[in-house]
Amino acid sequence: MNMIERDRAARRRAIRNGHGVMDVLTNLSEATEYSMPRLQAIIAAWVMSAPMEPRGKVARGDGHVDESEYRKQSIYSLLYSLYRSLGSVENEHGERYQFTFNTWGYAWPEAWGPPPAHQHDPQRFGRNAYSGLFHFDAVQQLARERGGRLHVVELGCGTGAGADHVCTSVLPKCTYEAIDMQLAGVSTCRAQFAPKHRGRLVATHADATRAPIDDEVADVVAVCETHVTDQGEVMTEEDRKFFRSARRILKRGGFLAWGNSIPEQAWASSFEFLASIGMEVVAVDDVTDEAVLARDLDDPRIQAYVAHALARFPAFRIPVYGPQRRVEAELAMRNLCRAPGTRLYDDLATRRDPYRVILARRT
Ligand SMILES: C[S@@+](CC[C@H](N)C(=O)[O-])C[C@H]1O[C@@H](n2cnc3c(N)ncnc32)[C@H](O)[C@@H]1O
Repeated sequence: MNMIERDRAARRRAIRNGHGVMDVLTNLSEATEYSMPRLQAIIAAWVMSAPMEPRGKVARGDGHVDESEYRKQSIYSLLYSLYRSLGSVENEHGERYQFTFNTWGYAWPEAWGPPPAHQHDPQRFGRNAYSGLFHFDAVQQLARERGGRLHVVELGCGTGAGADHVCTSVLPKCTYEAIDMQLAGVSTCRAQFAPKHRGRLVATHADATRAPIDDEVADVVAVCETHVTDQGEVMTEEDRKFFRSARRILKRGGFLAWGNSIPEQAWASSFEFLASIGMEVVAVDDVTDEAVLARDLDDPRIQAYVAHALARFPAFRIPVYGPQRRVEAELAMRNLCRAPGTRLYDDLATRRDPYRVILARRT
């Protein structure tokens, strides 16, 4: 058997074994946490499915994947399971850390005072993004009035790394409920971060649009790069429900603190919608330049992480389709990280997707 025949036979075996066509961009579930052996099987099936996908979904030039070609439920499930399975890794300087901030973040603006994270911290830009949600004078004043005992609800917390940062370094007396639709992210938060806060940090697995949380309980609703309202001028049904949920959870006079890089039209339609549900935007800070700088400075770490992650999957060494899928995986991961050379990086650098940190008050 030559190499191609061997490859075809392996593909037939994979299909017989029930792997069939595997599309990692759409097939995985937000209700499942995937172990390393399952991830290995999934990636192997994805590699073997390459010839059945008439055209790759990941653009070869810049890693772009069209909105219609992926489900966020699938990609974050894959990423959070991967981060957890890979555990602690080295950054480009040999410093060990676990990839937990799924955040682009930004370099700390000088005008905001001393930076909240150490300059060698591998995940400092994520920490900055979370500290930045609470930098507004109005929030600081509310925290002072309450002796720091604010109740924060976060919608779209990922692994809870930001929640941990806030509970540790930003509002060390707050209580915090962190919500995400991804079981793998919430499990990381429960296992790795919640125990050290002794009941102050609770992680809840739920869709934020149907959050099982009482009305008017939060002083602050935090939203950090949550994957909503990013589709141009169109406010989806999910976007509307998401903001209604934030408003419902907030106490009267409470604050929505939200940071993200999304299209200009998406900012405009979000502001319009927030006003229509009784949320007054009281502050808007643009940190696009700082976000581009962060992506530039973070690139060596992202390169090291992607190379390390891909090397753990022998399926990428399967002849012909392995290297093809490896290129797609690398491009897609880099694009999700908005690394230089990708579509999302360009959208940030050209200010198509400005990064803003905004504060809105429930009137
Ligand atoms: C780019 S990640 C950011 C995660 C985290 N905030 C961080 O900075 O590390 C976007 C997150 O939003 C979550 N998300 C998107 N839509 C959601 C929804 N409707 N309900 C709950 N979580 C949602 C995703 O599951 C994902 O974890």
